[in-house]
Order: sequence, then C-alpha cells, then structure tokens
Amino acid sequence: MKTTSEIRREFLDFFRDKGHTIVPSAPLVPANDPTLLFTNSGMVQFKNVFLGSEKPGYVRAADVQRCLRAGGKHNDLDQVGYTARHHTFFEMLGNWSFGDYFKKDAIAWAWELLTQVWKLPPERLVVTIYQTDDEAFDIWHNDIGLPPERIIRIGDNKGAPFASDNFWQMADTGPCGPCTEIFYDHGDHIAGGLPGSPDEDGDRYIEIWNNVFMQFDRQPDGTLVPLPAPCVDTGMGLERLAAVLQGVHGNYEIDLFRHLVAKAGEFTSTADLDNKSLRVIADHIRACSFLIVDGVLPSNEGRGYVLRRIIRRALRHGWMLGQKQPFFHRMVEPLIEAMGDAYPELTQKREFVERALLAEEERFAETLDAGMRIFDEVAARSGEVIPGVDAFRLYDTYGFPVDLTADIARERGLTVDMAGFDEAMARQRETARASGKFANATTLPAELAAQLPPTQFLGYDRIREEGLQVLALLRDGRPVARIEAGDDAVVILDRTPFYAESGGQVGDAGELDGLDTRFAVRDTLKFAGQFHGHIGRLEAGALSLGDRVHGDIDDRRRAAIVLNHSATHLLHAALRDVLGTHVVQKGSLVAPERLRFDFAHFQPMTDAELAEVERRVNEEVRANHGAEVHHMDMQQALDFGALALFGEKYGDQVRVLRLGGASTELCGGTHVSRTGDIGLFKIVSEGGVSAGVRRIEAVTGQGALDHVASAEARLREAAHLVGASPGDVADKLRSVLDRQKKLERELEALKAKAASGATSSLADSAVDVGGMRVLAARIEGLDAKSLRDALDRLKQQLGDAVVVLAGASDGKAALVAGVSGSALGKVKAGELLAHVAGQINGKSGGRPDMAQGGGEDSPALARALSDVPGWVRDRLG
Ligand code: ALA
Repeated sequence: MKTTSEIRREFLDFFRDKGHTIVPSAPLVPANDPTLLFTNSGMVQFKNVFLGSEKPGYVRAADVQRCLRAGGKHNDLDQVGYTARHHTFFEMLGNWSFGDYFKKDAIAWAWELLTQVWKLPPERLVVTIYQTDDEAFDIWHNDIGLPPERIIRIGDNKGAPFASDNFWQMADTGPCGPCTEIFYDHGDHIAGGLPGSPDEDGDRYIEIWNNVFMQFDRQPDGTLVPLPAPCVDTGMGLERLAAVLQGVHGNYEIDLFRHLVAKAGEFTSTADLDNKSLRVIADHIRACSFLIVDGVLPSNEGRGYVLRRIIRRALRHGWMLGQKQPFFHRMVEPLIEAMGDAYPELTQKREFVERALLAEEERFAETLDAGMRIFDEVAARSGEVIPGVDAFRLYDTYGFPVDLTADIARERGLTVDMAGFDEAMARQRETARASGKFANATTLPAELAAQLPPTQFLGYDRIREEGLQVLALLRDGRPVARIEAGDDAVVILDRTPFYAESGGQVGDAGELDGLDTRFAVRDTLKFAGQFHGHIGRLEAGALSLGDRVHGDIDDRRRAAIVLNHSATHLLHAALRDVLGTHVVQKGSLVAPERLRFDFAHFQPMTDAELAEVERRVNEEVRANHGAEVHHMDMQQALDFGALALFGEKYGDQVRVLRLGGASTELCGGTHVSRTGDIGLFKIVSEGGVSAGVRRIEAVTGQGALDHVASAEARLREAAHLVGASPGDVADKLRSVLDRQKKLERELEALKAKAASGATSSLADSAVDVGGMRVLAARIEGLDAKSLRDALDRLKQQLGDAVVVLAGASDGKAALVAGVSGSALGKVKAGELLAHVAGQINGKSGGRPDMAQGGGEDSPALARALSDVPGWVRDRLG
C-alpha cells in the first residue's frame, strides 16, 4: 500500500522532474491578505504573483499546502463527521505556472501522473470542463484520447455569470478562471451519477484534481479584468487521492486517519472505530494543532474564535463518548507520528500546542457539563426549535459557540432559532454600549468620510508645523462648522504632526493654536481608519472649517513614548531569543510612562529568564544601533526577515523598522534615531493575562532611572531602619527576624508563667462551702483560651472545687466555670454559669463539669461573682 507520506513525496518528485521549484507550505494564516481568514487553497500564497505585483524567482512551482476551510467563503466545519469526505483541515497538492505553460501541459502532466506513475485505470477517470472551454475539450479529446461522453461541459450552474463548478475563484474578489476537474469512478456498487447529472452528489464519482486556468482578477463590482499573463493553479486533495490509491472509499479509512481514529478511540475508551465522533476528533486535532503552530490561540474573536469553536466541538464529541477528562491534547502525539515528517514545525512546537489545547480543555470543562444539562432542559420544553435566547444563554454563560449548539440540536433532529440568537446578541451589545463599555467614538458619518482626503502624517520627523487646515469639526460626534471656547470637540486637519493611536502606541497630546485660538489636544485617535482626530477642548477663541492652525505636540511626552516603542521591539526580539519563537506578540501598549507587552507563552518566566531578557535588551541599547526605516512591499518585507503580526491588515506598501541586527518588524509607529537614546531598560513586572498569554511591563529612559532611584531610596530607608548599610541589609534583616522569632517564643513562655502565677495566688482566695472550695474571680486581659487553661490549673490545685473565672477586655467579659472532685455530684457548671451570665446580659452553655460563655463587662459582673458562694450554698440546701 502506498502511504500518504509516499504520495506527498512522489507528487513533488514528479513535478520537480518537470522543472518545478518545490516551495514549502505557507502558514494557515495568510501573511499578506486581509481579505482571507485562512489559507483555503494552495494558491493563496501566490495571489500577488498571479496579479503580477510580485515576482518570485521561478515560473513553475509545486507544493503540498496545508489548508483550512472553517470560516469565510469556504467553510466545511458543519459537514465534518457527517460525510465521508469533508474536513476542516486538509492538504492540497498543487502545481503552478506563472505565465509559463498553460492548458496543454497542465492536462498532459496530470494525466501522466495519474495513469502512468500511479497507474489509475484510464477508464475510471471522467473530466469536466467549463461550458465554453473548447480548447480544453480539444486537448482532452484529441491529445489524451478521452471519448466525448467522458468530457462533461458544466455551465454557470450557480445562478450568475461565471458562477460555476467549473469556474474557480478564491474569494469574492481576486484571481479566478475556468477549470477542468478530474473525477475518479469508485464503481457501480456505489450510488451516484456523473458530474452534472441529477445525482452527481452521490459518492460514486469523486473529484480528485482541479486544474484552474487563471485568467482574470475579479473586481468588487463583479467585472473580470484579465491577468497580466495566463497562469495555471492546480489542487488535488491529498486525503481523497490517498483513498483512491489505497483502494478504500472514505477519507477516514486512509492510513493517516486510521491511526488518528484508533488513538481517539483509545483516549476516549471507545471500541467502535466507526463512531463518527472519533472522526470529528481526528479531523479537528489536525485543524487545531496547525492553527496553534501558525500563531493562533483560542480567543473570543476572529481567527481565535474559529479555533475555539473547533476545539470545543471536539471536546463535546469526546464528552459524548463519556470522556470528561482532558484528552484532546494527547492527540498531538499521534498527529506528530502521522505528519511530523512532512511538517517539522509540528514537532518543534509540540509542547506549546499541547499546553494551549490543555488550557482550553480545562477552561471548557468547567461549563460543558452544566451547559449540556441546560441544553437538555431547553430541548425538553421547546419542541423542534431551540429558542434564540436559550442559545444565547448557552453561549454567554456556558461558552457554547452557537454552531456547537446547532450541532447538538441537529443530532436530535432540532434546529436553533438563529435570528433570535442574533437578536439576543445585538441586545446585549446595545446594553453594553449604553452602559459605556464600548463607547465607540471613532466613527465618522459616511458622507463626511467620503469627502475628506486621508490625513497626511508629518510626525515621523516633525513635532510642530504651521498652516494646518481645519477640514472637519465634530461636537458630540456630529459634524459642525464652528466651535466656540469651552467646547469639547474633535478637530480633523489636512496634515498633522500628531500621531493617532495605533499599533499599541498611544496618541499624541499637545496644542493647536491660531492667532487668538487655543485648542488643547488631550489625545489623538484614528477616525474611520484614516483621519487623525485631535480630541480636546477649545480653551480660547473660536475655530471654523477652513481655518489654519499651528500644531505643536507635547514633545517631552512624545520623546518618552518613542523610547518605550523602540524598547518594545527590542523586548520582543529578546523574548524570542530567550524563550523561543513561539513567542508572538498578542498586544501592546506604548505610553509615555511605561510599555506593556503581551505575548504567547505558557508558563511564568523565571527570574533568570527575566534577567537575561533585560540584559539582552540593554546590550542592544548600548550597542547604539541606528534605526533604519524602509518602505517596501509585503513580500520583500517578509524576505527581509521582518516579523509580521499575523492577522494585522497591512497595505501593499509596508514600513519596516530595523534596529541593528537585533530587530526587524513591520511598524507604523514613531521611534528613536539610535537605540542608545533608550538609555536604560528595566522590567517592572511579569504576570499572566489569560491562558497562554503573559504580560511584561517595563520602563525606559528617565522612567527607568526614576524606577531604579525609587527602589534605591526604599532600600536605603529600610537599611537605615534596621541600622545597616544597603549592602548588608538582607543579612541584617535576617538576624532581626531571627531575633524577633526568639523573642516571641520567650514572650509566650513568660505569659504562660505569669498566668499560672496569677492563678496560684488566686487559689488562696477560695472560700469553703460545705466542704468544697468555691472561687469566683475576675482576671484582666485573658482571652477565652488562657481562661480555660487557668481554670484547669485551679481545679487541680483546689481538688473538690467550684470555680468561675471572668476575663475582661474591651467592655466584654469572657466566662468559664468548672466543677471538680466531689463537688461534681452537687453542682452543675452549666447551671451556675447560666446564673452568672444572666446577670450581665450574656449567654452561656456547657456540660456539668465545664461551661463557657460571655457577657458585658459591667458593674453587675462584680456582684454576680460575689454572689457565687451564696448560690452554691443554696444548692446544697
Ligand atoms: N485553487 C483550486 C482549488 O482550490 C485548484 O480547487
């Protein structure tokens, strides 16, 4: 049997022999394409090559690309587990021509590989072509020799021009073109008709290879603009092909999945390996592991939320199999056994992937069980449709993504009221907004935004500028033509030296001045993504549209921000060096006082790691590298080694900041001119933010010196207090603490001795009542426990005795009473103490030999105590 690993290798070898350059799989997160959530086919990394804006060093390429179809235009998540062939994650074998060969060679090579190398019987293959593609028809018929009835023309069967199974496009816009698809006939024992026939959805004819002839760039308005040169883009699903070559019908029966399914069965104690939940788990571990490898972590939005949904879906299937303990992370090991040879990054990041999965398992375990109970209750009372409010409650309180709820519903023949869910979600957002949580202040009315030119930013090299023109004014969020002294407003100018908050760097503050006008800028934010809005108050004069002002930023504040921003880059680089390349930025705040940097990492950093990171950053500071800024396109930047933040939107031209050899990052922020300007870098704290994300706070420049100075001042003060020099304050403190412990022990002993001294002299004041010694006394400052100890000692001393002790402090009196020896049959401690406590508004309780209680420390206490011998005498009758 040909293994999946062999198939990958043979595919690449074949095309290498045909002059193709073998390129590695790109990550699942597209590095250069904000229109796409995930890499969903092999051609994604070549998009700009098709469009002509990027020139690689080759015109033919082949690869094995990891792909994800779970969210966005191509989304198969809901199908996984229900069909034999859908996956969230799959591998696509592809070969490409960039303006080199076209239909003739592409078709001939596809045929050669399938029928000669892999020896598939030609009579088992059928192809489709786009309705009008006569050129493809002729090649299949005349060159390859396929009979016309096995070349099926497919037109625009998806309801619009060029919307067809045989017209491929990666997304709503971008490269597209007609295609020819090759189908394998699994045999007439399986139900299903030819492509294009009414029962084409059956499982008999399975598409294995799509050859796309890329010719157009689809525009947002639907028009097709020809590409600079016709190209070829092919994609063959590895899992389907392996099924054909291994003589099985379903993808989950191939070697790779058999291994994963068997392990999933082992980890969930499930013997029936045909159970569909095992397939879901086997599919999902691939998607989840590779997403984490490619820098995504579970979160509540965007890509992170897709990951969270897939993980939780897998966990729910484990739960259905009765596995309530974390198990999913254990699937990483069998995954590496199956795929580690083709994807070394998986092996390298193993520990990180396992920890990320385990953290999410532990998190969801807290609510999965309870959520399932809620689901059962809701299902029992709601008939066929789960109400939207309940789906929302499951989402909001129990962490059930709505598609998970829909999945559970579907298993039971129910549906979810999605409109109701959306409504509940919208209502909650509204409430949150009304309570000010999401004050969304940076929108602009669309008509205004359409009229304004984007603000030109001057602040990379200027901190003040004359003649800036007022283009828009907002008061209470609405455009106005003029503002007066005292107004809080937003001012938008044609150009500005004020940096608007982005990439973590806070906005500038400062002033906009006219002849008699002064607008104090408190903050600068980006409005509608491209206009710098100066936010503040007009303190003098008036300001109208068209006026010219002088802009002057608070340069000390900006200078402090700049140091922190450049230090953030050095910190990022040092963290990757010290902890590993799994460290990716998860957020940052660059303010004048300090910097904050959040990054992916699973355990707290050790003191030694922190010290090493700090040491390295300061080393780069002292190296005094010049900061270089380069403008280039995204691909050049990546080639240049720039760290790009996955998921960020970058325009085609990017700004790359290089600080010596230490750090190269895409960044639109403002920076030092030499790293030496930073002066000093000090880490102030390190802690956890959420599962798998750590946070470092640090200070630089004068802030770092102040931090050190204040730490030193506190040290000196401490040293002074303990009478030592700062150098031996620790030794001194240690000896002070030892001494304190010793003194405490001595004090305890003395107290005990004093208490027993007090009681022994008390014994003398006992009076004789009917042959028993009776004692009632007040002792100052003893708590209930010392009081009981004293009582025990007195009983021993006195023999046949009745004792009442009152320990008074802070207006309260603690009481104990005891009876011993022959007095035991005659007097009950509980009764006696109840009598005493009753006189001081107190309470008591206890046994015949011992009772405790309390009350007020009032003049009645002395009377009550002096009354005790009389009370005892009365008892004896
Ligand atoms: N890009 C083509 C596909 O994904 C080959 O089917």
